[in-house]
Amino acid sequence: MRQSEVSVGKIVLKNPLIAGSAEHLIEAGGVRRALHAGAAAVVVKSVNESERGRDQLQRAEYMLLDDEWREIPWTPDAPSTAFIACRSGLTPQSFEAWLDQTAQLDREAKASDAYAIASLIVADLAQTIAMAKQVEQAGLRVLELNIGTPYASQAKGVVSTELDPERLAVIVSAVRQAIDIPLWVKITGQSERVPDLAAAAFRSGGEAVVMAGRLLGFIPDVETMQPFLGTTLGVGGYWNLPLTCHWLAVSRRQLGENKPLIATNGARSGLDVVRMMLAGASAVEMASAVMLRGAPVLASALEELHVYLQRKGMTAAELVGVAADQRKTFADMPLRTNNWKKYVADPEEGARE
Ligand SMILES: Cc1cc2nc3c(=O)[nH]c(=O)nc-3n(C[C@H](O)[C@H](O)[C@H](O)COP(=O)(O)O)c2cc1C
Repeated sequence: MRQSEVSVGKIVLKNPLIAGSAEHLIEAGGVRRALHAGAAAVVVKSVNESERGRDQLQRAEYMLLDDEWREIPWTPDAPSTAFIACRSGLTPQSFEAWLDQTAQLDREAKASDAYAIASLIVADLAQTIAMAKQVEQAGLRVLELNIGTPYASQAKGVVSTELDPERLAVIVSAVRQAIDIPLWVKITGQSERVPDLAAAAFRSGGEAVVMAGRLLGFIPDVETMQPFLGTTLGVGGYWNLPLTCHWLAVSRRQLGENKPLIATNGARSGLDVVRMMLAGASAVEMASAVMLRGAPVLASALEELHVYLQRKGMTAAELVGVAADQRKTFADMPLRTNNWKKYVADPEEGARE
């Protein structure tokens, strides 16, 4: 295996970096830029049959916030802690136009040993199944099924945030029975049952599970006293990386090391890719950072990953789960009597001695 190669089920990726789905992957040019930057796969902007989903894209609003919850300019040189709060929608293209474009992009990607991956967001299951069949017939090699968008409670019938492992199993089985190509299932992070959702996805024929989707948030503006962008928003950012890594590690423990996990939510750099792989991811999707800063972020993340692998004398595949597998229980931790006293501001006289 080459130093950067990883496998996700039956698929071998030339490296673990995937450009995750968002607005910068609506147009073919954005997908091509991500492929040229070296991403092993690009998940194109999602589609479904819902006109309301298209309409929501045209009503979508986006803002960039700093670590003091202040809006800052949307520029590629924004601070590294900047994160996106937004409402999003589905691709504005018709399903047919989206399918033609995605199939063409996957043919181009194949020539550079990469993938353009179709992404469906479930609204009506029968429609999803029909679209999944067309995706396969068009020659696409992988389908990502997103049933974990943050927005379902705010936009009923347009997208899904599946919280029940049993219902998730029904959806995944139905799509699985309709197609033979690898099926990646993207699940929500708005649950304390992420590993159970992942287990249900694998049980029902998912080949990999992408974890975990962005969360819903609500951010008051202290000046106007209004909610930012008027309502509840999808939020995610660098601060979500520990949560993503936690879900990866506990899912790996619960499901075993042979169930491919793909990380999403909070990766900004090559070392973030490493962190998520050490926590159990076989590959890592990066979305917001690329939408904000452009495809060069992918190239620099790959360079940083390469330097790290050289320094450690390891292959990318060897990173998967190393930290997760050394995770102890709280009960295994040694006794550290009064250790807590060193961490209290303004300690009592003599407490630090
Ligand atoms: C503006 C925006 C639009 C998104 N659109 C989609 C989408 O259409 N389909 C999808 O599966 N995920 C979508 N996502 C989720 C991302 O693919 C990704 O899972 C999430 O942003 C967390 O990863 P990140 O921290 O790398 O951005 C979107 C995210 C953002 C910020």
